[in-house]
Amino acid sequence: MRIAYEHMDSINVGLLGFGNVGTGTYETLMMNRDRITAAVGTEIDIVKILVNDINKKRTIDVPFSKYTSDVNDIIKDPNIDIMVEVLGGIEPATSYMLSAMEYGKHVVTANKAAVAANYDVLHQTATDNHVQFRMEASVGGGIPVLSSITSVLRANRFEEILGILNGTTNYIMTQMAENGLSYEKALKQAQEKGFAEADPTADVEGIDVANKLSILMALAFDHHIHPKDIPTTGITKITEEELKEADAEGKVIKLIASATNRGSRLDYSVKPMRLPKDHPLAGVKNEFNAVFLKGNAVDDLMFYGKGAGPLPTGSAVAGDIVQIATEELKETMHELMEGNKK
Ligand code: HSE
Repeated sequence: MRIAYEHMDSINVGLLGFGNVGTGTYETLMMNRDRITAAVGTEIDIVKILVNDINKKRTIDVPFSKYTSDVNDIIKDPNIDIMVEVLGGIEPATSYMLSAMEYGKHVVTANKAAVAANYDVLHQTATDNHVQFRMEASVGGGIPVLSSITSVLRANRFEEILGILNGTTNYIMTQMAENGLSYEKALKQAQEKGFAEADPTADVEGIDVANKLSILMALAFDHHIHPKDIPTTGITKITEEELKEADAEGKVIKLIASATNRGSRLDYSVKPMRLPKDHPLAGVKNEFNAVFLKGNAVDDLMFYGKGAGPLPTGSAVAGDIVQIATEELKETMHELMEGNKK
């Protein structure tokens, strides 16, 4: 969709969901407003926010008029250029994203479950409707790994992916191993800090990591493997005794996503592994994530940063919005100049 000349004084965004990621996105755009406006060349304005309960008391200060409980106020509003989906869950999130694209909106999401389950149809619908579909925040929170794979690393064939891709489970196991917290207490803290999914089963059973590995493989190996087909074991059966035993052996237990690409054959899994304490992934603690990639030209690469939490994830969502806004504005200006020449 070309941004209409009439409202080029701002690029309008509709936000679906105002939980941890939604508020983190809003805050990122607010606290860095001047810098973002200067970079894009116009203001980015979140004009509507879909919430379940518009009267709910919130700690964040947002004009009441921005809230709506009707998704069509965003999907069907011709003045909204970009829809950001941070509801979580496969449905209705996927249907909302597809509808928004069909209405000509660019879509940004942090929703790994929806992207991993419906990767092909989401990308195809974006292509068919000439809109952008971006999802940097869906893997590794604030770590810019997806854009790296699809842009500056595009000249590589990737052979291996290895990573710690879930902040909640990494936080739980770090706190259990280093501070003697119980599993329950550590999980509660991860929830309070805004790392965990609404239903933390997805975190602790490894499902969230399988979703992220599916997305990484789709981009790095050009093969979409449905997360249900990735052999997955979570951390629920790991005991304090096992963590102590690993420690005595000079090891740490980490929930590891791994995948290799041998051309005709892909191998992949998500499972807890004992790593020697001097392994590069062993020092990745709490909500930090790390992604190791091996490309056939660049060789070994390691990305490291906060994989969960409102602001780190908000940074990635806001980055996608800025990217779309910048490209769109450039194209609109170009078209205007071409039009003036005729
Ligand atoms: N629940 C996820 C995690 C959030 O803990 O990593 C970020 O995807």
